[in-house]
Amino acid sequence: MSDQTSEQSDGSFDAGHFRTVMGHFPTGVTVVTGLDADGAPHGFTIGSFTSVSLDPPMVGFLPQIGSATWEAIAASGSFCVNVLSDQQSDLCWKFAKSGTDETRFDDVDWHGAPTGSPILDRAVAWIDCTVEEVYDMGDHHFVLGRVGSLDADADHDGNPPVPLLFFKGALGGFAAEG
Ligand SMILES: Cc1cc2nc3c(=O)[nH]c(=O)nc-3n(C[C@H](O)[C@H](O)[C@H](O)COP(=O)(O)O)c2cc1C
Repeated sequence: MSDQTSEQSDGSFDAGHFRTVMGHFPTGVTVVTGLDADGAPHGFTIGSFTSVSLDPPMVGFLPQIGSATWEAIAASGSFCVNVLSDQQSDLCWKFAKSGTDETRFDDVDWHGAPTGSPILDRAVAWIDCTVEEVYDMGDHHFVLGRVGSLDADADHDGNPPVPLLFFKGALGGFAAEG
């Protein structure tokens, strides 16, 4: 056992230790967006995005139970996942700041996906979905979405897109080997 753990002799551990160890798994960074009942855009930074199934095409993500953004967009029955580029770290933090869900789209350029959910300009990829199922799992929901349309069509000034990565609480880019 590592001497850096806060594991107790009975095998239990605290939330900080759980977070620290999970932070060693690198993720991409997405902003999941949608519209509320008045048609206003909402979005939040989500790292728990995953591809689930190819046939039928399904993806998922896990918003915290009580999330203001999820509560705002859930009733629309749709959402769009935006994969951020390494030029969009400002959006990662902006869409993660709690208590700001009404103003996150101020000064953000976007256009509507087929469901109406926002596609953020210059995102590496977008995946537009309808909600298939929502499962409650501990303190998070698992939102399963059916993919209606998707693309990786943004222009990055003629350069290949570089995704934003999150590891141990910090952001970075990606460099292919060879
Ligand atoms: C890189 C990164 C990844 C995140 N991933 C998730 C996630 O998967 N699920 C989640 O509920 N919150 C995640 N968050 C935190 C939310 O973005 C943050 O709590 C936000 O305020 C939620 O929006 P809300 O306040 O409108 O509910 C992440 C934050 C960052 C910086």
